[in-house]
Amino acid sequence: MSQEVRGVIARAKGAPVEVTTIVVPDPGPGEAVVRVQACGVCHTDLHYREGGINDDFPFLLGHEAAGIVEQVGAGVTDVAPGDFVVLNWRAVCGNCRACKRGKPWYCFATHNAKQKMTLTDGTELSPALGIGAFVEKTLVHAGQCTKVDPAARPAAVGLLGCGVMAGLGAAVNTGGVTRGDSVAVIGCGGVGDGAVAGAALAGATTIIAVDTDPRKLEWARGFGATHTVNARETDPVEAIRELTGGHGADVVIEAVGRPETWKQAFYARDLAGTVVLVGVPTPEMKVPDLPLLDVFGRGGALKSSWYGDCLPDRDFPLLTSLYLQGRLDLDAFVTEEIALDQVEDAFGKMHHGDVLRSVVIF
Ligand SMILES: NC(=O)c1ccc[n+]([C@@H]2O[C@H](COP(=O)([O-])OP(=O)(O)OC[C@H]3O[C@@H](n4cnc5c(N)ncnc54)[C@H](O)[C@@H]3O)[C@@H](O)[C@H]2O)c1
Ligand SMILES: [Zn+2]
Ligand SMILES: [Zn+2]
Repeated sequence: MSQEVRGVIARAKGAPVEVTTIVVPDPGPGEAVVRVQACGVCHTDLHYREGGINDDFPFLLGHEAAGIVEQVGAGVTDVAPGDFVVLNWRAVCGNCRACKRGKPWYCFATHNAKQKMTLTDGTELSPALGIGAFVEKTLVHAGQCTKVDPAARPAAVGLLGCGVMAGLGAAVNTGGVTRGDSVAVIGCGGVGDGAVAGAALAGATTIIAVDTDPRKLEWARGFGATHTVNARETDPVEAIRELTGGHGADVVIEAVGRPETWKQAFYARDLAGTVVLVGVPTPEMKVPDLPLLDVFGRGGALKSSWYGDCLPDRDFPLLTSLYLQGRLDLDAFVTEEIALDQVEDAFGKMHHGDVLRSVVIF
């Protein structure tokens, strides 16, 4: 058995996305079908459409979602029909070398559904980040369903499924931001503002938001930025140093994904500080002219952060709880709620900086 639902695909590199009929198989062993209630539009969806991730077109886009489990396959015990879940792209295996060494957030063999969702002609779809959630119902591995408090608004907590978690975790988990730290965040979209919010939660006392768009800087203030720098008007490295007693920040988070902004992050951190790259570069990007002596001499750590080094089962319920207590304003990330056929428009708005997150509501 299978069912036919509506979903958004990217058929070919650079072509506008389209709404079409998706065939969703019944869940097999270890799988679940989830009725999607809300799914945010993340920059990574646009990377997929532009061929920046890989060439496995057609993609079923969308991966920042919350919904209700509708059916589960054989052997599924952790979730049941009716559960309210946030979908995750890190269903850890428990058996790979990372899991066995007690660092499951690096898991190298995460679970996805084994069966494929398809077009009506049988063409197999590549689901974005192993999820694919711009669709009325989606098939995932049951481990990709993380139960959270059903009192939460789907459009808000769904964002924990990618961007907000990636940014918040980049600060708190990867960057190890703690009370009294100075933190700079370069690029304040949904991911960067997640980092700003995480730094604020962790007790950073100086939080410098850097963006080229004044509207983004205004939003970043709302999430806890103590200072803002418009990188179009001011050299961000100079500005960050000035705001940190001439030294640079303890932790600098790059949430754009470009060589020039990574290089700014590198020089804007204090000696022995930490740089966290959370923005996703494209394959042709290189960091030119970086003296190896500076890498050595400035010390500290140069890290990258995939999904904020999160563990969904630990972090999603925790952050949902902080949200429901009013300590993490996830609603403020939701700039607008849109319909399934407005994803292409939402990419345009993202490109022009009009939104933090457009969220498709079903
Ligand atoms: N590592 C992960 O696990 C992970 C997860 C989700 C998204 N991402 C990546 O994070 C990045 C940000 O995602 P997003 O959804 O927030 O995108 P976004 O487009 O909403 O935000 C990017 C921000 O960077 C700003 N910007 C652009 N050029 C700049 C410059 N030169 N200096 C300062 N700011 C500049 C833009 O104005 C915008 O506010 C993307 O590359 C995305 O693919 C990574
Ligand atoms: Zn593993
Ligand atoms: Zn994403």
